[in-house]
Amino acid sequence: MRPKTPNDSRTLMTDMVLPSETNPLNNLFGGELLARMDRAASIAARRHSRRITVTASVNHVAFNRSVPLGSVVTVEAAVSRAFKTSMEIFIDVWMEDRFTGERTKANEAIYTFVAVDDTGIPTEVPPLQPETDLEKERFAAALRRKQLSLVLAGKMKPSDATELRALFTS
Ligand SMILES: CC(C)(COP(=O)(O)OP(=O)(O)OC[C@H]1O[C@@H](n2cnc3c(N)ncnc32)[C@H](O)[C@@H]1OP(=O)(O)O)[C@@H](O)C(=O)NCCC(=O)NCCS
Repeated sequence: MRPKTPNDSRTLMTDMVLPSETNPLNNLFGGELLARMDRAASIAARRHSRRITVTASVNHVAFNRSVPLGSVVTVEAAVSRAFKTSMEIFIDVWMEDRFTGERTKANEAIYTFVAVDDTGIPTEVPPLQPETDLEKERFAAALRRKQLSLVLAGKMKPSDATELRALFTS
């Protein structure tokens, strides 16, 4: 299969924070942001694989900054590494300053999606060719994140997680 770049799957979703989407502090409700990130990641996974894709795992979410009511929020998702049938999707969440338009990073997350056929059976995806330094950094770290996710899900023995173990023994 022809390799694809992160730009081939890059997905930008911009939306406002409305009153019905906030918590009692008038900031964006965490579950609402998770849903927005899942949607953008799903589109990115589909753009990379051109298949039906399902969320296999939410590997990491950092709610570093609260997002106030009325904010303009952009969720940016792109495939950071493709394995055999699974894809790691890196999601950056940006807030836009109301007056200057300047974007600041609010949150980030990492999801795993799997491409499946019409009957739900995992199916192969194209490889990913990272281009920028950041894309190469995310690509390099993705294998140990996959191993950690599989170990936590009880789908891999810790002793088989060689890339992950190397982090602690090197
Ligand atoms: C995701 C799903 C297709 C995986 O099926 P499976 O029978 O475990 O298939 P496999 O063991 O062959 O795994 C398929 C790929 O997913 C990866 N994978 C499975 N679980 C994973 C996890 N928790 N974390 C990271 N990767 C995972 C496997 O490593 C494999 O990757 P690879 O082929 O790129 O090496 C299946 O569990 C499923 O359909 N889950 C429900 C998905 C869904 O409905 N999501 C929405 C939730 S509301």
